[in-house]
Amino acid sequence: MKLNNEIIERHVGWLIVLTLLVISVGGLVEIVPLFFQQSTTTPVEGVKPYDPVRLVGRDIYVREGCYNCHSQMIRPFRAETERYGHYSVAGEFVYDRPFQWGSKRTGPDLARVGGRYSDTWQRMHLINPRDVVPESNMPAFPWLQRPVNADDIESKLRALRTLGVPYSDADIAGAAKQLEGVSELDAIVAYLQGLGTAVKSTR
Ligand code: HEC
Repeated sequence: MKLNNEIIERHVGWLIVLTLLVISVGGLVEIVPLFFQQSTTTPVEGVKPYDPVRLVGRDIYVREGCYNCHSQMIRPFRAETERYGHYSVAGEFVYDRPFQWGSKRTGPDLARVGGRYSDTWQRMHLINPRDVVPESNMPAFPWLQRPVNADDIESKLRALRTLGVPYSDADIAGAAKQLEGVSELDAIVAYLQGLGTAVKSTR
């Protein structure tokens, strides 16, 4: 049977199978090399695995859906770099699983927000954004003033280690202790203050 356009277009089965084949090959050719490319697997100098407090802060960031309004990816365009600082590079995200790049920007990009404001500003802003930015329409997150849940921190670190994050046995054993007396607010502020600080900002 000759497999020409007419046959493919008249037989929906062929169309489906061949479309899937083309998309899978095209997708794999784009995606697979990224797993082996140095720039996407080697951390940029200064990028370290998340310590337990920041890791918990990151999980709270995900839980609260901050990514619905904030991206963490500065594109290499002048308008972006002048506003946010150096554009994002792949090696900054090797320990982010899953990464929080996003594309929805109801609020500003947060890829380099670390160090831009004081801890006090960040705390006030999260408890009630209007206290520091009167025109803000960001929601308030007052419930973050409760203690973090440290029960699963060891298994979290262990799971990340199986994915290649270099946590030592001592890191894992000492993790719960580092979370003693830490509130969710402390953790998320620590996370935010570390964002993008490894690559020197141009601002
Ligand atoms: C409904 C959308 C929305 C959600 C959800 C949201 N934000 Fe915002 N965020 C904004 C807007 C709009 C601004 C700009 C006004 C302001 O500074 O409050 C902002 C500003 C910020 C800033 C200051 C950034 C800068 O460079 O000035 C930080 C930090 C921030 N948000 C963190 C968070 C965190 C952490 C969460 C999750 C706990 C979160 N946001 C959830 C909309 C949102």
